[in-house]
Amino acid sequence: MKLARNFYRPLAIGAPEPYRELPVRLERMIHFVPPHIEKVRAKVPDLARDVDVVLGNLEDAIPLDAKEAAREGFIALAKATDFGQTGLWTRINALNSPWVLDDLTRIVAEVGNKLDVVMAPKIEGPWDIHYLDQLLAQLEAKHQVCKPILIHAILETAEGVKNVEAIAAASPRMHGMSLGPADLAASRAMKTTRVGGGHPDYKVVADPVEGQPRAIAQQDLWHYTIAKMVDACAANGLKAFYGPFGDFSDAEACEAQFRNAFLLGCAGAWTLHPSQIGIAKKVYSPDVAEVKFAKRILEAMPDGSGAVMLDGKMQDDATWKQAKVIVDLARIVAAKDPELAKAYDL
Ligand code: GLV
Ligand code: MG
Repeated sequence: MKLARNFYRPLAIGAPEPYRELPVRLERMIHFVPPHIEKVRAKVPDLARDVDVVLGNLEDAIPLDAKEAAREGFIALAKATDFGQTGLWTRINALNSPWVLDDLTRIVAEVGNKLDVVMAPKIEGPWDIHYLDQLLAQLEAKHQVCKPILIHAILETAEGVKNVEAIAAASPRMHGMSLGPADLAASRAMKTTRVGGGHPDYKVVADPVEGQPRAIAQQDLWHYTIAKMVDACAANGLKAFYGPFGDFSDAEACEAQFRNAFLLGCAGAWTLHPSQIGIAKKVYSPDVAEVKFAKRILEAMPDGSGAVMLDGKMQDDATWKQAKVIVDLARIVAAKDPELAKAYDL
């Protein structure tokens, strides 16, 4: 293991100092765009006002004969758009693909100073992060990039899940992680063809009671992995995200999946279709009543110690911390969303 003092040293002479704390950003949804399509690129300036993160996808779902066009299209949209407070991310190709080296060298050379985060697919262990960390530092130094480009790993292989804690701790360049349920299902030989969400056959059946139909409760296929990812991220000061929800026609199930992830500690989710942007905003912005109650807890316990009763519910140091998580998030949301700022009274 590296010495703590070396952990925070730049990995190339002239590369920017790694962050010690993640920059505070609103990332309720990471909105995917296919950058090789000109019509899509034309809509990016409007999109950037609506979403928290615009991600140019270069990996899966981009046809093989459009890989170069997607990379160059991403560079073009990055140059042409003023992103303001909205994040600019790209999902590069996998580390074992023939495209990834050019993805990174071209993009950092052309728009390294605008790029916030590189999303890296199929991360198996800390060795993948170390490779990217070193390469990004060399490219940052070469192209005079002023702030570190962060790495966001997709957790989508059985080996990655096994190594999730080491991945989270691999570099100060780590931003966070997303669950990739489609590739993960394939890697684990799970018997589902769905992209995220539940499965009607994954269920618990109650004991039989004569004359009554047996009660059946569908269970959550992703609970274990999301919880494991959230713990690895939270322990290392990173953010956890739910990934894709593939059934665009089922808004209700998408909302339930996003909400389960939110309640377990995730900060946001991917949106692959415009209809999912509103769902992510609704789910990942804290609830108005919850924010108002959390504000009352903070007001009732100004220094966060002792115990008070509010509406018959006990509050102490621990609920004060829970309230602070909610109010801090509400403040970030309020800065971007005037309507919610009013509703939260912040
Ligand atoms: C996302 O990349 C997934 O495989 O689910
Ligand atoms: Mg995948």
